[in-house]
Amino acid sequence: MPVYDLLTEMPFVFRPAQATDKAAVLAFCEHTFHWGDYVLLVWDKWLADEQGALLVATLDDRPVGVAKVTLLSPTEAWLQGLRVHPEHRRQGLAGRFLIHCLNVARQRGAHVARLATSSRNAAVHRTTERAGMCRVAAVWILEATALLPDGNAPVLTCLTQRDWPCLSERILGGTALAQMGGLYGVWGWNALTAPKLRAHLECGQVLGLRENGQVVATAIITEVDEEDKCLLVAYVERSGSHAEVLAHALRNHAASLQLETVEVVVPSASSLHGAFLQAGFEPETESEAEIWIYELELKGTTL
Ligand SMILES: CC(C)(COP(=O)(O)OP(=O)(O)OC[C@H]1O[C@@H](n2cnc3c(N)ncnc32)[C@H](O)[C@@H]1OP(=O)(O)O)[C@@H](O)C(=O)NCCC(=O)NCCS
Repeated sequence: MPVYDLLTEMPFVFRPAQATDKAAVLAFCEHTFHWGDYVLLVWDKWLADEQGALLVATLDDRPVGVAKVTLLSPTEAWLQGLRVHPEHRRQGLAGRFLIHCLNVARQRGAHVARLATSSRNAAVHRTTERAGMCRVAAVWILEATALLPDGNAPVLTCLTQRDWPCLSERILGGTALAQMGGLYGVWGWNALTAPKLRAHLECGQVLGLRENGQVVATAIITEVDEEDKCLLVAYVERSGSHAEVLAHALRNHAASLQLETVEVVVPSASSLHGAFLQAGFEPETESEAEIWIYELELKGTTL
């Protein structure tokens, strides 16, 4: 059902996107960022998502805005891809569209909604704060080329259920997770809970670095981007001075998988950031600045 906002002059209508909206949306997204936009690459997948929703804002039946609601888990919504046609910016559309997205997320069963934006995107900071969302984490997405290891460089190995007691204490009870606002992910963050960590462990996605038999650093690999040949590391933590060794080991691990690059998320407040830069990582090209993650509890609230 379209929603008319009666409080404003611009009669924007919000509705689920249709296949026929594609050309108009891609046209106004063409120059969103200096490098273009990724909406073109994900449109078909987003439109086909039955759990989440691809939404458009229209004016006189013409799409002038787009946004995506994704359920990362049955109760956690991720909001992304908010775009307003350059000719219709600063007319209050983003503010109203965000509220609509939050309502859609709640209707789909989400108890919490999150989004990420650049630390430089003042319009989104303003919009999210007006909607009652709070900043829960500041992170950097760093990338480096994969690198074959020197002869006796430390190697990451898959941790197993036997490592669970140490792992749950290190990861779930550690400062790195607190600095991440309890979240993990790459371009889509959700709460790292014990069941999720166990599931990653069972899938062989939790890697560890050992020294004298003891785990001294860990990394959660959630995905391999086959198209870009990139290893995506959703979470890292280490004890003491092992951050730089971990960073090198991740570059080596990507090379051992015959990938070309590795992308890792680190909390800005942590010394992990400096150590990864020292090991040859750089800010990922599409982010270039810190990423701020915002969150809103939806359960029991009205917008
Ligand atoms: C960010 C974007 C969605 C904002 O859309 P919009 O419809 O113009 O935003 P609104 O008119 O609802 O304005 C929201 C608030 O941001 C402020 N704002 C808007 N553009 C701004 C700008 N360029 N600089 C600073 N503040 C800005 C508005 O004044 C308003 O603040 P207020 O509530 O105090 O009045 C739009 O500029 C856009 O599509 N940008 C490119 C894509 C992008 O950055 N998407 C977000 C990715 S997370």
